[in-house]
Order: sequence, then C-alpha cells, then structure tokens
Amino acid sequence: MTTYVYINNKYVKFKDAKIHIEDRGFQFSDSVYEVIKVLNSKLIDLDFHINRLKYSIKELNFNYKVNQTSLTKIFINLVNKNKLKNGIIYLQITRGIQSREHAYKKNLKPNIIIYTAKKKFNLPNKNYKGYKAITYPDIRWGRPDIKTTSLLANILAATEASNQGAYETILFKKKKVTEAAHSNVWIVKDKKIITHPANKEILKGVTRTVLKNMIKSLNLKLIEREFSINELLKAEEVFITSSGSLVTPITQVDKIKINKGKIGTITKSLALNLYKAII
Ligand SMILES: Cc1ncc(COP(=O)(O)O)c(C=O)c1O
Repeated sequence: MTTYVYINNKYVKFKDAKIHIEDRGFQFSDSVYEVIKVLNSKLIDLDFHINRLKYSIKELNFNYKVNQTSLTKIFINLVNKNKLKNGIIYLQITRGIQSREHAYKKNLKPNIIIYTAKKKFNLPNKNYKGYKAITYPDIRWGRPDIKTTSLLANILAATEASNQGAYETILFKKKKVTEAAHSNVWIVKDKKIITHPANKEILKGVTRTVLKNMIKSLNLKLIEREFSINELLKAEEVFITSSGSLVTPITQVDKIKINKGKIGTITKSLALNLYKAII
C-alpha cells in the first residue's frame, strides 16, 4: 500500500519526500519534533503535544506559528490516506534552509514533514510485557526539556540497550536518575510513586502529565523528586512512560530483578486506568 507523507503543503508518496542538503535540521539537528499516538484511528492527547511543540518552537526561536486547527486537519488526512489504525504520527519542523553556517538567520522558512507509522503497543491485556532496562550516563546537552532531534546521546544509549537485549536505557547524572533514552522513569517505594520533577533536566512527557493527573484522581501518593540509582535498584516497582510505550513495566535493571521479575500491581493498575481513559 502506498503511504503518504505531508511535506510543506503537499501530500507526496513516501519515496518522493525529499529535503534539501542545506536544511538546518539535516546539518545541525536544528529541528523539533513530536510523536503522537494513534489508537483505533484516533489521535491521543493532541492538545498536550501541540502545547509542547509551541514550547520547543518558542525556546529555539523558530519562525513558525503553530496552528492547531490546520495541523489537526493534516494529521487526520494522513491517518485516513494511510489507513492507519494503531501507530504514531511523526511531525518534524526544521528551522529551514541556509548556506552552511552555525549562526542562524532570522525569518528562514521552516520545513515541515509529517508522516505515519504502524505500531503495536504494549497494552495491559494478557500479552502485557515487562522489560529489561540498562543504566547509562546521561551525556545529553543541557536542554533535554526541548523536544529537538539532537538525539545522538539518546541514540548511543538506546543502541547499548539493544546490544544488551534490553528495551530501554535509564539515564543517570551524578548517581541520580533523570529519565530514559525515549521515556520518563517512575519508581514505587513504600507504595508511593516517585518521578523526576519536570525541570530542564528531562523532557516533560505528555504521558507523564496525563498519568500524573490520573494518579491524583486515583488518590495514590505521587512525589516529584530526584531519586538515586540505588533507590531505582531497590524499588518495589519500576515503569516507564511515553507515547510509544504507554505505561511499560521494567522488571529488570542491569542484572537486578525488580519485584522478583514480575509486573507490579500499581504499574498494572496505572496502565489499565490510562488505557481505559484513552479508549
Ligand atoms: C527523552 C524522552 N523522555 C520522555 C519521553 C516521553 O514523552 P511522551 O510521553 O510525550 O511521549 C520521550 C518520548 O519520546 C523521550 O524521548
């Protein structure tokens, strides 16, 4: 089946979508992105993604005004054209094209690329799976709160996980856990749910925000604070969240089994509640 890509006001076939070699996203990772989940052909948590896109664009001073209505139309068109049931929408906006020079010129015309991909999600049903994660130093640049495509450190971390047969890489800075290569990290300790505060050291995940509200509504105790690798390894439960992973249990970190290698009850219940809220 032909899949279509939206590129600068046009819908083209996947193989025909091309970008200029002096696009700043290509040369310098001078670009931002969003990954939006699609379940049963429905866009999930769109407002949160749009708000974060606005934040990334403002922080990097791109010459682009986010128009939620027109972006939503494009997303829906692509979901329909590509007959997407379950998967993701990938949106990338680059600062634009300029003769190669580090400093950017103002008023460049951004390049906008949007496409879809199928994905199977780890849903809390009978196939719900817990995964292994490894730990790895957080060597990312100083602004991981901006969702940019400057992801080389995440890529090295994720590849190391893949080499070790793990699903995710939990990042640490001075023995404190920040987040993971492509998700936010949570632990359960004394039945309390703990996650890193949403400051400049982590990406404020959309799933994190939605789950935070859910935890409050379920009257569970949530603490936003830094936690150490030692606390991670001794936690009753560990899980990660992202648009692609939803609530995914981590049942092993490096060589240490968490909750004897079983999915924890709080993790499962949060995953179920989140999934119910989505559908
Ligand atoms: C580094 C990082 N942290 C957290 C997340 C989770 O964000 P979201 O829940 O918005 O997908 C992601 C998602 O890609 C990520 O790359």
